[in-house]
Amino acid sequence: MCGIVGYVGGRPCRDLLIAGLEKLEYRGYDSAGLSLLENGRIESVRAVGNLANLRAAVADTDDRGAVAVAEADATIGLAHTRWATHGRVTEENAHPHGDCADEIHIVLNGIIENHSELRRDLTADGHVFSSETDAEIVSHLIERHYNDADDGDLTVAVQAAFGDLRGHYAFVAMHRDHPDMLVGARQECPLIIGLADGETFLASAIPAFMRETRAIIQVENGEIVTVRAGEALVIDPHGTPREHEVEQVTWDDEAAERGGYTTYMMKEIHEQPDAVAETITDRLPEVDEVDMSELALTPEMASKVRRIIIVACGTSYHAGLVGRYAIETWARVPVEMDIASEYRYRDPVVGPDDLVVGITQSGETADTLAAMRLARERGAHVLAITNLMGTQATREADSVLFTRAGLEIGVAATKTFTSQVAAMYLLGLWLAQVRGKIGPDRMAELIAEMKALPSKIDETIESSDEKVRAIARSHFEGRFFFYLGRHIGLPVCLEGALKMKEISYIPSDAYAAGEMKHGPIALLDETTPVVCVANDSPVLDKVLSNVAEVRARGADVIAIATDGSVRVAEAADQTIYVPRTDWVLQPILAVVPLQLLAYHTARLLGLNVDQPRNLAKTVTVE
Ligand code: AGP
Repeated sequence: MCGIVGYVGGRPCRDLLIAGLEKLEYRGYDSAGLSLLENGRIESVRAVGNLANLRAAVADTDDRGAVAVAEADATIGLAHTRWATHGRVTEENAHPHGDCADEIHIVLNGIIENHSELRRDLTADGHVFSSETDAEIVSHLIERHYNDADDGDLTVAVQAAFGDLRGHYAFVAMHRDHPDMLVGARQECPLIIGLADGETFLASAIPAFMRETRAIIQVENGEIVTVRAGEALVIDPHGTPREHEVEQVTWDDEAAERGGYTTYMMKEIHEQPDAVAETITDRLPEVDEVDMSELALTPEMASKVRRIIIVACGTSYHAGLVGRYAIETWARVPVEMDIASEYRYRDPVVGPDDLVVGITQSGETADTLAAMRLARERGAHVLAITNLMGTQATREADSVLFTRAGLEIGVAATKTFTSQVAAMYLLGLWLAQVRGKIGPDRMAELIAEMKALPSKIDETIESSDEKVRAIARSHFEGRFFFYLGRHIGLPVCLEGALKMKEISYIPSDAYAAGEMKHGPIALLDETTPVVCVANDSPVLDKVLSNVAEVRARGADVIAIATDGSVRVAEAADQTIYVPRTDWVLQPILAVVPLQLLAYHTARLLGLNVDQPRNLAKTVTVE
């Protein structure tokens, strides 16, 4: 995921900016760059690959005559690490991006949804683009407004450009004629001001400048900020000033690596809104259309697919299970699920009419790769859903759909799971679209619900964390957790139970609620917490009958329910509500309290949630 660092102050800033980028490396990136302004000229250096390549390119600038970069005297600049979304991984597509006159440079995180129409409009107006990115639009838009207003006010030009943009992003701009200021804007993606004596930083995360200052202001959604050396002015989109308290960061270095959270897992749970937004935003460019043009699988090929087979392991398998329900409900294509390690050894019947989807966040899971390879050898089109570029899965597949969760350090998958589920929803909607199974009105409803998911995930984390912690306190010394659900609630239960096993080491099992009477009910007594996924759905009545059966055995029922569902609250001992959404989309919200339940249980037991015993993040052996 991209990272931003900007500086304005009294010190030469080239090396400060590169040091800031180093602190953002953990987010993952494929190219990097910086721009420095000195003596009325902006000079840039960009490089594909890691920061060592950027440093080498900086060292080479003497040959290119980029004096500000080579001599490192500039006291204002911007820097960026890019994780490609629009446009290939090339030096031209790396940030910063300039306008036509090379007077304005910008760096951007996130995605501009309406980039195609803005690019068309700006091109018609004579603007010439030098990259394939959506980000470059921003420098040209600022240029247009700056020149049109002809008042030399960079903040007003940024404010006007901000009004033209749709999407999920944060950016920072610098103008050749304003060597004393940077202007930034935030819409969903983080942007933080770091204030020090006579200098100011503007970055996408605090670690980028924490070695220099701990005094910060969090820029909020819809705000525009103008920073000068040691000062910051924040306004709303209409230009009205906003007051912000300066906060002091109290993290130690280790906590800083984790963004202030006690563990990577908790940090990654909180990164889920962003991870899902990054995964879906630019693939939903219109109110009623899914864009999958990045796939080698064309709409014509997709409309002829007779069957889909999903292969994956562990958490990725659970994401596939959610995907199965979504694809069958929306696109009416039969879907088979297989655990990759089983699939590869059972001589499967698979061929050219099949689409095989391999889901693997690491892109390196040996069994999933082998299953994909086998299917490909037998003529199926293989689509990989993965979170990491350049991994083996991308080479074993005909098409690749990247999730954009950023690097996940915690061994127990959280944000990669919800991003995989989001990717499966995109695939389901796209298949429905190309096969003509959903009309434009229904598609528009579902897409609107998809776009609301990031803020609903955020709401779920905020509203459920304390309550889940209290439930964990009641049960963390228990000997067994049982999870029950039906239909699309079942994969949520399987994932909740896996999280509990992985990090708390408490035995746990998840069952289709209808199967309970066929055996597992014998396990229940008054000491057993039973977690029931009971969101509003066509099968809720059936789930409530199962809840009654469980309670009749004295078990303590913890229900996950849809906001306002009084029936569930009456039936269960404890109820955790998640926001209302389309019932097929509920899993992406319902899983969050279950991640938190496993997390708090493990923490109360004093366990290392980031590195559970016996587990590896990437399983490259069978
Ligand atoms: C998830 O919490 C686990 N660490 C594990 O089940 C994981 O999902 C599985 O090993 C598959 O990994 P992959 O997505 O990298 O293929």
